[in-house]
Amino acid sequence: MGGLDPVVGIADNYRQWAREAHALSPAYESLADAVAADGIVLDFLGVLPPVKRQPNLLFAAARYLVGSPAAIDDLRALVSERPAELSRVMLARRTQTNEPARCATLLPALAQLPEPLALIEVGASAGLTLLFDRYSYDYDGQHVAGTDGDAPTLRCGVRGRVPVPARVPAIVWRAGLDLNPLDVTSEEDMRWLSCLVWQGEGDREERLAAAIATARRDPPPVHRGDLRTDLPALAATAPAEATLVIYHSAVLAYLSPEDRGRFASTVSELGCVWLANEAPGVVGSVPEPDGYHGPGPFVLTRDGREALAITEGHGGWLQWL
Ligand SMILES: C[S@@+](CC[C@H](N)C(=O)[O-])C[C@H]1O[C@@H](n2cnc3c(N)ncnc32)[C@H](O)[C@@H]1O
Repeated sequence: MGGLDPVVGIADNYRQWAREAHALSPAYESLADAVAADGIVLDFLGVLPPVKRQPNLLFAAARYLVGSPAAIDDLRALVSERPAELSRVMLARRTQTNEPARCATLLPALAQLPEPLALIEVGASAGLTLLFDRYSYDYDGQHVAGTDGDAPTLRCGVRGRVPVPARVPAIVWRAGLDLNPLDVTSEEDMRWLSCLVWQGEGDREERLAAAIATARRDPPPVHRGDLRTDLPALAATAPAEATLVIYHSAVLAYLSPEDRGRFASTVSELGCVWLANEAPGVVGSVPEPDGYHGPGPFVLTRDGREALAITEGHGGWLQWL
């Protein structure tokens, strides 16, 4: 009986999520444990569609409404006094974190390709991970200068013989594709993006704010569409004289294994370079590298076959294989 009770299942999910949050955000670890023990908050979650019950979404929505990271008392107050507002935000919004530091973990692979480059990022969110050439980089003291002197410097730890480039590659064209693009010029969209950062996650908020300011100086185009159906039409608009690179981070896990397989076929028919930065096993044809101890890091693969690197999920370090 207990296993069929959605509230029991939600409590279990929050407890499990708390263990995963431990290293990144002790505050969110405690909050998820507190939710797992709180009948009022669990009852509220139980009436939402299953995909809308995640801790990430609840905590970001609460922060969005309260104006600062929520404590368990704030969550209880919200579900008791403002339940309609809280569910409206949770139903309307999605967890679509856009982490600019992931550019540091993809840049060495990009910089090995024939220039100039044309980029398509699928699952681009606000497009902050389309701006490789504008950011500067610091790979454990090896510096790469970007084209925008006011853009943030992305710091990335180096493990193994990472081919750190001498300069950023020439990018002549870029486009993002997302089911729900976030608009960098919209205060509300960018406030939502900021609310998705977990409480106490070091310098992520500051980096995000600096990347948003960079994007606002010349917003990258992010088109509304589904990577399962709309990629060939977008790819057809890329300049033929440039190397077309289709890439993604933390996106294909949202697709079924069948859809991932179809996406791989589509990409191979487009005659492009395909870079995937995903959790191990998501790009199915690439085995989990030896020595990998998940969860957390991603695997950076080229063309669905070659594992190039293990990358920290938020771009903090890069281990070349
Ligand atoms: C976790 S975010 C990652 C954003 C960005 N790639 C990054 O690394 O910071 C995943 C994004 O994928 C998008 N997405 C998920 N499924 C998609 C699909 N079928 N087509 C297009 N975008 C999709 C979501 O809307 C979301 O913006």
